[in-house]
Amino acid sequence: MKLQNKVAVVTGARSGMGRAIAELYAREGAKVVVADLNQANIDTVVESIVASGGEAVGVTANVAKDADVTAMVETAVRTFGSIDVLVNNAGIMDNFVPVADVTDELWERVLGVNLYGPFYACRAALKHMVGQESGGVIINNASVGGLFGARGGSSYVTSKHGVIGLTKSIAATYGRDGKIRCNAIAPGAVNTNIGSTITAPHPLGLAAQNDTGPARTGDPMDIARVALFLASDDAGFVNGDVVKVDGGWTAR
Ligand SMILES: NC(=O)c1ccc[n+]([C@@H]2O[C@H](COP(=O)([O-])OP(=O)(O)OC[C@H]3O[C@@H](n4cnc5c(N)ncnc54)[C@H](O)[C@@H]3O)[C@@H](O)[C@H]2O)c1
Repeated sequence: MKLQNKVAVVTGARSGMGRAIAELYAREGAKVVVADLNQANIDTVVESIVASGGEAVGVTANVAKDADVTAMVETAVRTFGSIDVLVNNAGIMDNFVPVADVTDELWERVLGVNLYGPFYACRAALKHMVGQESGGVIINNASVGGLFGARGGSSYVTSKHGVIGLTKSIAATYGRDGKIRCNAIAPGAVNTNIGSTITAPHPLGLAAQNDTGPARTGDPMDIARVALFLASDDAGFVNGDVVKVDGGWTAR
């Protein structure tokens, strides 16, 4: 049990990597706040955790809304007494739209979920973590699109680069006494539902994507196992890092 009695909040936890992380954390002893947009699907994940002997509550939260995110963090503290681990996982894609064709609406929607969301959640969580004797751990699920230019469209790539900057800023400031750690994961191609947010891929943006993919597509558990390591004391000296988990995609 690597997360015994820890309280973990996972956003975008009804599907894909978020669900895998929430369920793995619960199996490792964490009390989990399962946050996502839609209550019905949140309940499915909470029920599966409880049926396996774990502890979880569901929260409806649109991460692009500060008030929702603050309420999500407060639910963790009110229900379980603390917030020890925050996983900013919720994210959407942008149809690979290049800069000249990006509408204000697309830019604001993608940055709202992928960058403002993690910012709101880090701000709310840190207010508690700095006062906790045991500090806390933040994990931001970025992307290889946060490290390279052709692993998403311009809004997505910008949002994920921003999340990595947020990660390093938090690590460099709040991590100075060793009690708070903040790291990012940069997954490659993982088999989840995020493809459903690619509705009309832009041909220019699509053509710019790297066509030499990884040896295989990742499984959400490939990412969840890294998120478990980062949340646990095993990663006690890992702070401000970006852990690329892409099956060697970007090594080519
Ligand atoms: N799948 C990939 O290949 C891949 C690669 C690199 C990075 N990522 C990143 O991994 C993270 C998880 O994505 P996934 O692939 O598991 O996708 P997914 O679509 O399976 O899961 C994303 C979850 O986020 C939720 N969500 C979307 N907008 C939200 C909002 N405004 N508020 C709250 N929840 C919201 C969705 O309802 C969904 O449950 C994302 O940040 C994504 O950018 C994915």
